[in-house]
Formats: sequence, structure tokens, C-alpha cells
Amino acid sequence: MVGFKTSTLAALLSLAARSAAVPVVSEPTTTFTSEPAITPPVRPHTNVTEHGPYTGPSPTTTGAKTTTVVLAPSIPALPPGPDAFKYPSDGNLHAPLPAPYTPSGGVGTNGSAPVYRVLSDFDYESIALALYQEWIELDLFHWGLARFSEEDFLEAGLTAEDRFLIEHMANQEVGHATLLSNMLGPSAPQMCKYNYPVNTVREYIDFCQKLTRYGEAGVYGFLNHLNAHDVGQMLLQSITTEARQQLIFRQFEGLFPMPEWFQVGIPQSWAWTLLAPFISECPANQTRLVWQNYPALHILNQPNPLRINGSNVFNETVDKYTSTSSEEEIEEGESCLNATEVGVNCSPAITHNRTNSLSYPGRQVFLEWDEPGQLVGPNNSYVTNTTANPPVFAAWVSQLNVTYTPLQEIGHNKAWTIQPNMSTFEGDPAVNGTIFLVLTDLDLYVTPYNISMLNPHVYAVGMYQSG
Ligand SMILES: *[C@@H]1O[C@H](CO)[C@@H](O)[C@H](O)[C@H]1NC(C)=O
Ligand SMILES: *[C@@H]1O[C@H](CO)[C@@H](O)[C@H](O)[C@H]1NC(C)=O
Ligand SMILES: *[C@@H]1O[C@H](CO)[C@@H](O)[C@H](O)[C@H]1NC(C)=O
Ligand SMILES: *[C@@H]1O[C@H](CO)[C@@H](O)[C@H](O)[C@H]1NC(C)=O
Ligand SMILES: *[C@@H]1O[C@H](CO)[C@@H](O)[C@H](O)[C@H]1NC(C)=O
Ligand SMILES: *[C@@H]1O[C@H](CO)[C@@H](O)[C@H](O)[C@H]1NC(C)=O
Ligand SMILES: *[C@@H]1O[C@H](CO)[C@@H](O)[C@H](O)[C@H]1NC(C)=O
Ligand SMILES: *[C@@H]1O[C@H](CO)[C@@H](O)[C@H](O)[C@H]1NC(C)=O
Ligand SMILES: *[C@@H]1O[C@H](CO)[C@@H](O)[C@H](O)[C@H]1NC(C)=O
Ligand SMILES: *[C@@H]1O[C@H](CO)[C@@H](O)[C@H](O)[C@H]1NC(C)=O
Ligand SMILES: *[C@@H]1O[C@H](CO)[C@@H](O)[C@H](O)[C@H]1NC(C)=O
Ligand SMILES: *[C@@H]1O[C@H](CO)[C@@H](O)[C@H](O)[C@H]1NC(C)=O
Repeated sequence: MVGFKTSTLAALLSLAARSAAVPVVSEPTTTFTSEPAITPPVRPHTNVTEHGPYTGPSPTTTGAKTTTVVLAPSIPALPPGPDAFKYPSDGNLHAPLPAPYTPSGGVGTNGSAPVYRVLSDFDYESIALALYQEWIELDLFHWGLARFSEEDFLEAGLTAEDRFLIEHMANQEVGHATLLSNMLGPSAPQMCKYNYPVNTVREYIDFCQKLTRYGEAGVYGFLNHLNAHDVGQMLLQSITTEARQQLIFRQFEGLFPMPEWFQVGIPQSWAWTLLAPFISECPANQTRLVWQNYPALHILNQPNPLRINGSNVFNETVDKYTSTSSEEEIEEGESCLNATEVGVNCSPAITHNRTNSLSYPGRQVFLEWDEPGQLVGPNNSYVTNTTANPPVFAAWVSQLNVTYTPLQEIGHNKAWTIQPNMSTFEGDPAVNGTIFLVLTDLDLYVTPYNISMLNPHVYAVGMYQSG
């Protein structure tokens, strides 16, 4: 915002109001001085210089944060609340307006001042998770710029201007981390050390695209469940920026920017499952989280967007959590980067058509998953866990839908399943873009606002590059 000196501006306006013949000013002739308004400081942080796996001693604390008493093994399902169908929704007004142009109802609309403070354990743990995510993004965006040379980026079709955009995205993260830290107070989680699985610029971009997707989806999953709606408001205004980052990384990868009509939301524990493995070490007094780490679900034939025929792949990923694509085995002539044909070329662009779809309904998808009990996350101090029985379904979590397909030929932590044919609405194939695939022991009916009811039935969590 431009900080005009209000006194100058007021004088100017009153002058204009009084003069009879107002001259038409087509060129500004006066230079106003613009005094900076108060600039709030960002949360102090230092750039992480060391990266790699955790090498320190075994942690003294392990497992997610919990309480001595846990009230029940899961939240029982209930019918809709008593008032769920009360409001007539007929286009008429049903109560006097509290003020002109102000319909009755709403939350946080009674005039009480917002305070932007978390109000429950649910709020704290959710915002703290989002903060862990903002910190890793801040580091990841800087790391890529330092790890790969300008030359490396150019080979991947990304210019100095594109590198600046990544730098800018890192700066956005400083703001997001500061905002969330301020809303949590002094115990807010600090920045950690990280370990990334990628070796080339194209792999890095694919990883960023997937990481920002689970960051975004992880927030959409809890945003409307927060007790503190004022906190939710500010978080919303940062997560929409993150959503744009996700889209830009897709464009950097030469993917169709937004194939979905709706962006997906996932429970916090799924986001933490996908985030924690890349955090190697946190400072001594780091605030821990309550969320569950599920075993990894590895997509063996994860579609590879770096290939011309991206669906025709096997075992071409750099990690088993996000199943980020590997560039290593792509031979000359198989890469879509420098292909010239429209529909085949996938150089960075606003958008590309893809003649060979990355995936399609009816595709056989090969899966492999871990046993629970593995150490993951900061200082290897979290333990993967599941309360589900051995999995029999794959749940495809995309847009507004959760659809189950049966696992076939279930072997020792291995199976395959068939990509479903379903639409969110007519004309909108639900399985498209960067989506989530989880294994479950039950085909429980859940929808976006109660998707976490599935958690006790989830065995493993992964990501699928369907488009
Ligand atoms: C971190 O590094 C970037 C350059 O990659 C620099 O612009 C920024 O100022 C550094 N931040 C801190 C806190 O040192
Ligand atoms: C106004 O709403 C807030 C919640 O947004 C509530 O805490 C407060 O008690 C309400 N005040 C009145 C006077 O109803
Ligand atoms: C694509 O073209 C760029 C620029 O000519 C080159 O540096 C790069 O090695 C090529 N990459 C592939 C995968 O063909
Ligand atoms: C952790 O310790 C550091 C250094 O002593 C301090 O700056 C920071 O505020 C502490 N953080 C928490 C969450 O207690
Ligand atoms: C994690 O490990 C490092 C290095 O051993 C140690 O300095 C730090 O205190 C540990 N963090 C926690 C939360 O235990
Ligand atoms: C792409 O690979 C699939 C197998 O995954 C194959 O059925 C299809 O014919 C291939 N398409 C092209 C254009 O090579
Ligand atoms: C995938 O490839 C790696 C080596 O790149 C190998 O160790 C692993 O066994 C392969 N997995 C499968 C299921 O083929
Ligand atoms: C891109 O794909 C759409 C949908 O299949 C098609 O209608 C359009 O003609 C394609 N455009 C180009 C330039 O290939
Ligand atoms: C995903 O959407 C893109 C763009 O509309 C389309 O070209 C592609 O065929 C879709 N893929 C699937 C699997 O539906
Ligand atoms: C998917 O469903 C649509 C609409 O029912 C149908 O037209 C299409 O052929 C189906 N695709 C596959 C691969 O079964
Ligand atoms: C998983 O969590 C449940 C519930 O907290 C606990 O009873 C169980 O012992 C844990 N399993 C493992 C392998 O840690
Ligand atoms: C997908 O979600 C939409 C919107 O909630 C719903 O109407 C539709 O029935 C769902 N489709 C499937 C296959 O679950």
C-alpha cells in the first residue's frame, strides 16, 4: 500500500473540492514522498547449509505426541447434526437483518474483534504442521537454486527469470512461516535440516510439484475444521499462494497446469506421512506433532511426466513416499523435453496438450508398501504406524471424491489394482493431476469434510501422478 502522507492528501482533496474549475490533470506533476508504513519483521531464520540423512545418535523421544489417556480407538460415526436440514434454502430472508445489507447468520460476524490465536489442540497441531511445511518449502526452493547451476536449469528449459520466480517463492515462504509462527507463539516449530531425494533439475521440479500439492491438500483438509476461524482466514490467504506455486511447478514441468475442476483435501496425518521423511534433523527443543506417520505406499509404475510415453514405465522413481519421477533411465529420444511435435513436447510452458496421457481409466497400477514400525522424520524420532488390518482396497483420493478399487493378487506387501473410471461431475474425470492413493482395509464412504474418518482404516499413503 502506498503510504501517502494523509495530511498532504487531505489538503489536496479539499483544494480540489473547493476550486470551481478543476483543471484536467493528465500528467502527474507533483512527486509525493512516500514514507514507509511500519514494516513487521519476519521470523528470524538462517539458511540451512547442511543437507542429507540424519546421522546423530538415537533419539530419546520417539513417536507422535500423545496423552496418557486416549478416550477411544476411533471417532464413532454419527448421523447429520440436528440442525443440518433446518434452514429452508428458498431464497427468502428468515430473520431480521442485523444491519443494512447484512444477512443474519455467519460465524465471526457479530462484531467481536478477531485475535488470530489458535483455540484448541486441533488448531495448534494443524497450524504447527502447516508451519513445518512452510519451513521445508523455504529451504527446498533455496536448495534447488544452490544445488543446480544456471546451466543445469537452462538444460531443463528454465531461464534466469524462472530461477528468480523460484527465489521469489522462497521469499513468500518466509512470510508464511512468520504468519503461522505469530499465530502459534514462542513454541512454534523451528526450521530443521532436510534431505531431498532428487539429482537433476527436472526431478527437483517434479518433487516441488508433489511437495506443494500435499502441502496445499493438507491445509484444505483441516481449514474448515479449525476452531479459530480468524486463524483460518489468514491461513487461507497464504495457502492460495501455495496453490499457485504448485501450478507454476507443473508449468515448469511442462504439465497441463490444472486438469482438475476441484483441488483435493487430505487429513493432516497423510500430509505429515509425506512430509516427515524429508526432514532429517530438528533443533533440541523442537515442538513435536501429534499426527500419525503411515507406512509408505510406493507406486511401482508411477507415470513419469519426463517421458514421451509417461504411462509406459516401471520402477522409475527416486523415493517411495511421493514416488517422484527419476530421469536417470530416460534414453535419448524418450524424453519429451526437446521433442518438437505439439502434444509430445513438454518443455516449460503455460500449458501443453499431452497426446499420450500419463494415465487412463483401466490402467493396471502396481503397488508395494512398507510394514509399520519404521523410524522416520526429524532425528528418526517418529515411528510409522497403522491401526488397519492388512489392506484390501486402494482409495483414489482426488477432487471431491474417494473411490475404492479392490487390490488384486495381494502378495507380500505387493498388489495391483485398476485405475477407476469416474467423474466428479459430467465432463470432469476425477482421477487427473497429482492425486493421493492410499491403501485401506475397508471401503468406507467418506466425503471431503469427513475424510479423516478413514484414518483408522488406512494402511499406507502415497501419491499418484495421474495427469
Ligand atoms: C538465504 O539465501 C538467499 C539466497 O539463496 C538469500 O537471498 C537470503 O537472504 C538468505 N537468507 C538468510 C536469512 O540468510
Ligand atoms: C460473538 O462471536 C464470538 C465468536 O466469533 C463469540 O466468542 C462471542 O461470544 C460472540 N459475542 C456475542 C456478544 O455474542
Ligand atoms: C534439451 O535441449 C537443451 C538445450 O538445447 C539441452 O541442453 C538438453 O541437454 C536437452 N535435453 C534433453 C533431455 O534432450
Ligand atoms: C529453542 O531454543 C532456542 C535457543 O535457545 C530459542 O531461541 C527458541 O526460542 C527455543 N524455542 C522453543 C520452541 O522453545
Ligand atoms: C536432533 O539431533 C541433533 C544432532 O544429534 C541434536 O542436536 C538435536 O538436539 C536433536 N533434536 C531433538 C529434537 O532431539
Ligand atoms: C505407451 O505405453 C503403453 C503401455 O503403457 C502402450 O500401451 C502404448 O501403446 C504406448 N503408446 C505409445 C504412443 O507409444
Ligand atoms: C527397482 O529398482 C531398484 C534399483 O534401481 C531395485 O533395487 C529394486 O529392486 C527395483 N524394484 C522392483 C520392484 O523392481
Ligand atoms: C488440445 O487438446 C484438446 C482436448 O483434447 C483438443 O480439443 C485441442 O484441439 C488440442 N489442441 C491442440 C493444439 O493440440
Ligand atoms: C487430464 O486432463 C487433461 C487436460 O484436460 C487431459 O488431456 C487428459 O487426458 C486427462 N487425463 C486423464 C487421465 O483423464
Ligand atoms: C469411462 O466411462 C465413460 C462414461 O461412462 C465411458 O464413455 C468410457 O468408455 C469409460 N472408459 C473406460 C476406459 O472404461
Ligand atoms: C500403533 O499405534 C497404536 C495406537 O496408538 C498402538 O497401540 C500400537 O502399539 C502402535 N503400533 C506400533 C507398531 O507402534
Ligand atoms: C464425486 O463427488 C461428487 C461431488 O460430491 C459427487 O456428486 C459424486 O457422486 C462423486 N462421484 C463418485 C464416483 O464418488
